[in-house]
Amino acid sequence: MENKKIIIAIDGYSACGKSTTAKAVAASIGYSYIDSGAMYRAVALYFLDNYIKITDPKAVSKSLEDIEISFRFNEKNGASETYLNGINVEDQIRTMRVTQKVSEVAALKAVRDKLGEQQQKMGKKKAIVMDGRDIGTHIFPYAELKVFMEADINIRAYRRQQELLNRDKVVDLDEILENLKKRDHIDTHRKDNPLTKAEDAIVLNTTDRTIEEQVSFVIDLWKQKST
Ligand code: C5P
Repeated sequence: MENKKIIIAIDGYSACGKSTTAKAVAASIGYSYIDSGAMYRAVALYFLDNYIKITDPKAVSKSLEDIEISFRFNEKNGASETYLNGINVEDQIRTMRVTQKVSEVAALKAVRDKLGEQQQKMGKKKAIVMDGRDIGTHIFPYAELKVFMEADINIRAYRRQQELLNRDKVVDLDEILENLKKRDHIDTHRKDNPLTKAEDAIVLNTTDRTIEEQVSFVIDLWKQKST
């Protein structure tokens, strides 16, 4: 019997392994993967490049009209990449310049409304894995499977440092640690759709788990929920 198509919502703190897990799960079960954080990062990049002040609501709403975000599959590396107004920004959105700014941008209601609407459209046909901060609580409150990821903050900082090193970026561990704490704070304290565990989400603590273990944890849950 064919598995029922469902929505898998993966939320949690920064650098707990959400994207890595979500991407691998989606590839393994033939679902689409959407990195909602990449969309917030693309908006933050646009604001930085165009000197948009987040304290100026008119400038914010005008620029949101001018922003078009999409994902395209790169055949060469087998990855889905983020495009901002038709330009591949996958590398630029991962720089510390954007990472330092993104949570303030993501706290703006106008930004969340625009991206939230686009994310909900992407989930219309189900068979999707989406990761973020408010996917199970706000974007897809009826998602059949919700996972909430957490991990020790020092491990998270170390893993993020390794990930940046793989992209040839050397960043001090203390800088990463400070950034993670700041983003956790903004994400959990903002007024609109703050990061919080949905009541029906299953906690996945990745401190002592390998990526393979995290992925099979979610796939096992998917098997239960989709049959
Ligand atoms: O997942 P990632 O770390 O790339 O997300 C970047 C930032 O975007 C987060 O720190 C958070 O502030 C914001 N975000 C959000 N809601 C989402 C996804 C990301 O507020 N659904």
